Amino acid sequence: MIDQIKSYLNEVQSFHSTSPQEIENFRIRFLGKKGLLNSLFVEFKNVPNTEKKEIGQQINTLKNAINEKIQELKSQSTESQQNSNKTDLTLPAENEPVGSRHPVSIVRNQICEIFNKIGFTIAEGPEIENDWHLFSGLNFPPEHPARDMQDTFFIEKNPDIMLRTHTSSVQIRVMQSGKPPLRQIFPGRVFRNEAISARSHCIFHQVEGLYIDENVSFADLKQTLVFFAREMFGMDSKIRLRPSYFPFTEPSAEMDVSCTICNGTGCNICKYTGWLEILGCGMVDPNVLDNTGISSEQYTGFAFGMGIERIALLKYQIKDIRILFENDIRFLHQFSGTI
Ligand code: PHE
Repeated sequence: MIDQIKSYLNEVQSFHSTSPQEIENFRIRFLGKKGLLNSLFVEFKNVPNTEKKEIGQQINTLKNAINEKIQELKSQSTESQQNSNKTDLTLPAENEPVGSRHPVSIVRNQICEIFNKIGFTIAEGPEIENDWHLFSGLNFPPEHPARDMQDTFFIEKNPDIMLRTHTSSVQIRVMQSGKPPLRQIFPGRVFRNEAISARSHCIFHQVEGLYIDENVSFADLKQTLVFFAREMFGMDSKIRLRPSYFPFTEPSAEMDVSCTICNGTGCNICKYTGWLEILGCGMVDPNVLDNTGISSEQYTGFAFGMGIERIALLKYQIKDIRILFENDIRFLHQFSGTI
């Protein structure tokens, strides 16, 4: 019997498994009702009294060994299960999907950077404006059509509160609160009561520029705009100024840049003219300087304003402005990686 117990003990000690099923089978084999341990106890009854003490001790040792083994195997098995649920740190990392900048933001940042290089700092103003900042301060006559409900989104009437139709309103704020020399750009969102089409939207973005100091001339304006066009569209870009009218600048002009698509030879983007209109500009009207408390005797200045969407359309050869407002992820993803 002693040999039998020893061989069971060997079996118990050498058994190993992490499978819960195998561990359970092991338990039943030794500790089950008809298990080996019970059959040893049955046999034990027939053991002569002189051997009872030693054999009893051996059976106890075996019993303890079985119980310890089962405990040990069970704890190892749950540990290995927990481990298999843990993240495998040796696996290659999955890339987190990153968004991309909107083309309007990309172009706005580029415009800001270009003007930063020549000393223009950035200022911002509110999107909801009153009549003074939007029209009267900017020398708009009372009967000007831009004051009409047809062109401007009004929030309140008398006194008039409206969504700004251009960023030129920030000119007034900056001139009222600061002293020349002033050299700033004002990026921002503007609103016009217009039908939405492939070429225009009722919400869009502008960047306004303002430079006021002693002896600022039209030549300074022209040089600034040539610099901008070359930085934005390439060193071969040419600009052309056409006389125009704005109530707040005198003289006023509109600037065309040579078509970036056909290099001036004519294509459907430039409507076969070779030129693309990108901004309005001019010398700040002396009335505007006086309206804001800056002496028009001592100071002169220039201003310009451009639409960001328009430049984005040209730069990326997008044919419909509406796509810039749809936020279709397939469109936006094409700009990933661009700063
Ligand atoms: N505010 C004008 C517009 O929205 C652009 C402009 C700005 C023209 C500054 C001249 C000077 O069309």
